Amino acid sequence: MTKIITLTVNPAIDKSTKFSGLVAEQKIRCESPHFDAGGGGINVSKAIARLGGKSLAVFTAGGPSGELLQDLLKNESIDYQAITTKNWTRENFIAVDVLTNAQYRFGMPGAEILTEEANEILKQIEELKPDLLVASGSLSTGLGDGYYEKVAAVSRKIGAKLIIDTSGEPLKMAIDEGVYLLKPNVGELAKLVGVDALEIDQVDDAAHEIIAKGGCEIVVVSLGPQGAVLVTKDICEHIPAPAVQKKSTVGAGDSMVGGMVWALSTGKTLQEMLRWGVACGSAATMNEGTQLFKKEDAERLFAWLQKYGK
Ligand SMILES: Nc1ncnc2c1ncn2[C@@H]1O[C@H](COP(=O)(O)OP(=O)(O)OP(=O)(O)O)[C@@H](O)[C@H]1O
Ligand SMILES: [Mg+2]
Repeated sequence: MTKIITLTVNPAIDKSTKFSGLVAEQKIRCESPHFDAGGGGINVSKAIARLGGKSLAVFTAGGPSGELLQDLLKNESIDYQAITTKNWTRENFIAVDVLTNAQYRFGMPGAEILTEEANEILKQIEELKPDLLVASGSLSTGLGDGYYEKVAAVSRKIGAKLIIDTSGEPLKMAIDEGVYLLKPNVGELAKLVGVDALEIDQVDDAAHEIIAKGGCEIVVVSLGPQGAVLVTKDICEHIPAPAVQKKSTVGAGDSMVGGMVWALSTGKTLQEMLRWGVACGSAATMNEGTQLFKKEDAERLFAWLQKYGK
């Protein structure tokens, strides 16, 4: 069986609530909060589980919020390995004003990771020897922009295929080392090739440029409501996103990566992987807030894409 590990170096507890009317200076009464485990890799693990797959979520956890993070994963029956940190896991705050339906998302900076903790993460990944490793999300302070480059070096050493979903300098440095698959959106891809913006007809060339330089083997560029493009040395295919009743796009990117990684782990072709990614991403937009997708929605959209998504 393909061993999948997701890595979240900067996880969070997402605390969500609702209130009625945002007024300064007054006490704003909120409903009982709902707690979710958050962070790129953790979301990818949840998406894989939703499709019936298995992965091990590796993440940092510190303090009482780090304990809660682990409890939340236990409740969802997701296997995990936590690397204990001295500093506490961050908590984000998400509040919806029921009068306007506006969602306010307050993100806290990640806890600082100490050098020995950062090294411990790399050591554990090396020992776990995954077949597929998914590094997703931002980096915590203390890790330095080159941390995913180190993860890429470990992946190469143990022969793991690294799938990376992050942005900016950390992404750029990771592809200097070389990875298996990238899932940038158009903005992230533009930055990677050093331009301000890319038009849709320039996406293929930009992805080819990265592959030609040895940055990665596969690029899946996500285009939001326009779907996604798969680019390898030999393939270039665009799949439109199915029109769905969109409620919230939060978690669409992570759901897409989850769908793609699950497809890879079950031996699907790259073209099927692309369709599973788009199906899971679009299915995620049909749900409110931080909720990912329902399996039946993803399956239905995948079947539609197999038929019509050319
Ligand atoms: N409005 C939409 N309608 C239908 N599908 C969508 C929509 N927005 C996103 N998707 C689906 O989700 C996938 C990923 O979305 P997107 O390109 O926005 O990723 P992203 O920018 O990485 O998102 P995130 O902000 O979650 O990181 C798309 O390829 C598409 O399949
Ligand atoms: Mg994204």
